[in-house]
Amino acid sequence: MPLIAVVGAQWGDEGKGKVVDLLAEKADLVVRFSGGPNAGHTVSNPYGEFRLHLVPSGIFYPHTRCLIGNGVVVSPAVLLEELEHLQKKGVDTSRLSISTRAHLIMPYHTLLDKLEEEARGSKALGTTRSGVGPAYMDKVARLGIRAGELLDKEGLLQRLRFVLEQKNILLTKVYGAPPLSLEEVYDQYCQYGDCLAPFICETEPIIKEALEREEIILLEGAQGTLLDIDFGTYPYVTSSSPVAAGAFVGLGLSPKRIDYILGVCKAYTTRVGGGPMPTELGDETGESIRQIAHEYGATTGRPRRCGWFDAVAARFSAYINSFNGVALTRLDVLDTFASIKVCTGYKVNGDIIDQFPSSSAVLQRCQPIYEEIPGWQSPTTHLRHFEALPPLAQSYIKRLEELIACPISLVSVGPRREQTIIVRPIL
Ligand code: GDP
Ligand code: IMO
Ligand code: MG
Repeated sequence: MPLIAVVGAQWGDEGKGKVVDLLAEKADLVVRFSGGPNAGHTVSNPYGEFRLHLVPSGIFYPHTRCLIGNGVVVSPAVLLEELEHLQKKGVDTSRLSISTRAHLIMPYHTLLDKLEEEARGSKALGTTRSGVGPAYMDKVARLGIRAGELLDKEGLLQRLRFVLEQKNILLTKVYGAPPLSLEEVYDQYCQYGDCLAPFICETEPIIKEALEREEIILLEGAQGTLLDIDFGTYPYVTSSSPVAAGAFVGLGLSPKRIDYILGVCKAYTTRVGGGPMPTELGDETGESIRQIAHEYGATTGRPRRCGWFDAVAARFSAYINSFNGVALTRLDVLDTFASIKVCTGYKVNGDIIDQFPSSSAVLQRCQPIYEEIPGWQSPTTHLRHFEALPPLAQSYIKRLEELIACPISLVSVGPRREQTIIVRPIL
């Protein structure tokens, strides 16, 4: 099983970092293919606890190469800070490579992310304000600056002069903000270029050779399917394609290559930022989940919106990605609940539907139809085998499997690597 994609099945923060850190033990190459520093992947391992924004979660194993693919938008400032932090904690970061084709987040992107959000007023998307959306806009508008350009300072100056002229018109004339200085931005990015030069290279041959050697390659998804630019709750989405298919263009990989797609789902639902979420609980149950699970954003610290598991949404994700298996995380968070609900359909405009609607306006009006399942009310965090789980927890997992129409391969009962139950081996 050499090529495995790990993809978020909900609205992000499903525990992809934990799952990748676990599976990476057997991987030769771990690769990020989409998103940027809007991602916050928590990894809790013998080196400590880390919130990775750009560095793939395989960085902790000395035998694993890590790669930031062309589909990622890279903030040099965030990346350098992350590398410094990892190095301080004794992690060897020399096995990281960054694609020459990856686009860079520039200072005007972060500024515009903030200004655009402010201009949206009550219709703000609740972005992470990390400049990711504006950087992808420039990529498509053919105004982007790529990592490879940091290696050619003369060329960089010419590109930056041209792009910054346009950005300064936007900043000053549309938003009434002060212009950015070409000299300052150029000097700063030359310095970033000096620091990042050892990492920037053509990454396609690295993947090609790993495939030829039949090495184990892990594709680390960021965000989640319901935040996908096409299949998510538009416009309350991110600006990239976090679905498995995003890995093909985000890395230069043929769709023929992928062997296994693992969807990561929490045993309940969370969301940060704006947009519809049918199972959101605005009551004390939602607050209990937030407190028990400490549901606050890894990137922004914002409280996450919490609710019951939405099987309509998860089934949609399973279809869009064609999951071979699901990693069900944070089961332990439900350990104390006397009763647990699962959304099996929506009621909207007098109809009952079991399809995830494409319109956010419709989804906003959807009322969840719940199935109530008795809670197991005993700790699971120390358990390592499916059969050792309380029978009611086993029933909950089996019911989710039926509803998602996909086998659950792995159950996570805590943030650390070893707090995992392998139901069906993936590697
Ligand atoms: P990601 O963005 O998908 O990598 O997820 P985040 O790191 O943003 O959020 C997941 C959170 O859940 C992190 O704080 C993890 O340490 C934690 N976590 C992951 N799996 C489990 C689990 O099975 N149980 C508990 N209690 N926490 C978990
Ligand atoms: P990981 O990889 C959860 C959300 C933001 C906002 C929307 C758009 O940790 O799962 P953006 O900054 O991307 O333009 O914001 O997407 N969002 C995430 N939510 N986890 C993430 O990443 C997210 N990345 C973006 O909160 O609603
Ligand atoms: Mg996260």
